[in-house]
Amino acid sequence: MPETNEKILLAERPEGMPSHDTFNYQEEPIEQPQDGQVLVKTIYLSVDPYMRGRMSSAKSYVEPFEVNEVINGSVVGEVVESKSSLFEPGDKVMGMLGWRRYNTIEDAAVRKIDDSIAPLSAYLGILGITGLTAYFGMLDIGNPAAGETVVISGAAGAVGMAAGQIAKLRGARVVGIAGSTKKTDYLKNELRFDETVNYNEVSDLTAALAEACPKGVDVYFDNVGGPVSDAVMSQLNDFSRIPVCGAISSYNKTEADIGPRVQPILVKSRALIQGFIVSDYASRFQEGSEKLAAWLSEGKLTYEETMVEGFENVPDAFLGLFKGENLGKQLVKVSEPSN
Ligand SMILES: NC(=O)c1ccc[n+]([C@@H]2O[C@H](COP(=O)([O-])OP(=O)(O)OC[C@H]3O[C@@H](n4cnc5c(N)ncnc54)[C@H](OP(=O)(O)O)[C@@H]3O)[C@@H](O)[C@H]2O)c1
Repeated sequence: MPETNEKILLAERPEGMPSHDTFNYQEEPIEQPQDGQVLVKTIYLSVDPYMRGRMSSAKSYVEPFEVNEVINGSVVGEVVESKSSLFEPGDKVMGMLGWRRYNTIEDAAVRKIDDSIAPLSAYLGILGITGLTAYFGMLDIGNPAAGETVVISGAAGAVGMAAGQIAKLRGARVVGIAGSTKKTDYLKNELRFDETVNYNEVSDLTAALAEACPKGVDVYFDNVGGPVSDAVMSQLNDFSRIPVCGAISSYNKTEADIGPRVQPILVKSRALIQGFIVSDYASRFQEGSEKLAAWLSEGKLTYEETMVEGFENVPDAFLGLFKGENLGKQLVKVSEPSN
């Protein structure tokens, strides 16, 4: 085991699009665990769009990261030393841990995960927060019926591709919006989405959507906000449902993102629009995880990952989310498990 640890701190709060200057890479000695603690080696680290919000000081549903402090997020790792009765070296675990190669933490900060159910990395995607977000947002708020038209923005991302497959399991007609031909091809050919729209390619997004949704839109699962959502909102059917999951198109804006006013559309269509945070469903995570795992093992659900190799490339993997570089869940592979 090396003696030196590596960590990534928030160097400054970004104005607009983050850059390499947002991050500070440092070394430190590895801390030995004390009673009740474990030393965890990072195997996979998740980078997620919501982390952009935590880089700003604005009040939100999660605490901001502090400048000059280690950034933290979802990590899958392996216990390499244990002073806890709950864990042994070799145990695979996950938790909200620091962007470090090694984290010395209280045992309550991690939980064991089972790599006989799915590969370890799946716990950061389809069997983790992004899968649960798709599951509850689509089924609880979107609630699509067989034959209804479901539109998903950010459809080739981690949440989007899970949400689309779940809607298809309900028998809905699924239309995915994504930013490249590689992505729309994947959605059509691999996930069997019924229609796709590449918002970067069409000259008139509203017309392209109208063609893709000849019977209008019954459910709009919104991951991106902005002009893409403006175009979808113009096609809503009566009593349509809009789970608002995210608004990545605005996360790096320095001024308010003003678009068409939605109230007249909502009145006319009697649509239900509801923002949600996956943690609202914490009491039902067990149900969601079991269902997602069952669909996965039955071959009814699949997932895709974009894996960047190397701890030093964590910032690039994060920045890539805002340039559409990922297909499916963006992860970083930091080390190999020992077995
Ligand atoms: N509510 C919750 O509890 C919750 C939980 C998890 C995630 N989320 C939200 O869900 C959304 C998706 O998250 P994810 O983890 O699955 O990320 P993701 O979709 O895997 O990755 C981000 C994708 O967003 C798209 N994008 C980036 N900038 C864009 C822009 N300006 N306009 C339109 N699309 C843009 C890119 O795809 P293209 O190439 O297609 O543009 C990119 O690949 C995010 O908004 C995130 O904040 C919410």
